[in-house]
Amino acid sequence: MAFTFFFRDMQTLETIRDHVLPTMRSRRYINIWDAGCAMGPEPYSIAIVLRENMGHMIFRNVKIYATDIDCSNLFGKIIGDGVYPGEQVKRIPKEIFARYFSPNGKPDHFIIAEEIRKCVEYQKHNLLTLKPVRNNFSLIVCKNVLLHFKEEERIEVIKMFHSSLSEGGFFATEQTQKMPEELNGLFKPVISNVQLFRKT
Ligand SMILES: C[S@@+](CC[C@H](N)C(=O)[O-])C[C@H]1O[C@@H](n2cnc3c(N)ncnc32)[C@H](O)[C@@H]1O
Repeated sequence: MAFTFFFRDMQTLETIRDHVLPTMRSRRYINIWDAGCAMGPEPYSIAIVLRENMGHMIFRNVKIYATDIDCSNLFGKIIGDGVYPGEQVKRIPKEIFARYFSPNGKPDHFIIAEEIRKCVEYQKHNLLTLKPVRNNFSLIVCKNVLLHFKEEERIEVIKMFHSSLSEGGFFATEQTQKMPEELNGLFKPVISNVQLFRKT
């Protein structure tokens, strides 16, 4: 099973809150792609951070396309149900947990609030097909996935992300992933200590 957990990278989530979210408020549709989402903690963490900082009406415009190659064929059901065992939710900040999770009937299992579940839609997708799941994304998050690809594949996948972002859209990846030099003209870094880039 893929390694992931809720609120795994708080610094990136806070950077999205501070630099991306203010540009979303004026948009009628806010489409986000979480590419390589594993069992869902990452797209659900993004959804919760946005909901915490957005009114109910604006949040209704948010749709997160969560995709993964998913060799286990289990992620669709896990993400669709939005139910996670106690072990996987124990690191979530207490107030957030109280607001968005409730017991679901099965011992030591918790279900995410419907408002959050409704905005995340899963589909199985292989990034190396180089076919985006749609266009006009405001934000693409692809973390701890690109490191598994060869340099040439990484470049082609990032080019695909660039072409499927809307004007001025954002791309976030993990801290250790540097933007390949060939692609420097396509994005500019938003801040120096987090790998968040804006389409130029
Ligand atoms: C370490 S997990 C990262 C999960 C999450 N993004 C995070 O950072 O917590 C890597 C994920 O990438 C997915 N993956 C690997 N190759 C892929 C591909 N070609 N297309 C889509 N997803 C892929 C794996 O199935 C796995 O779920």
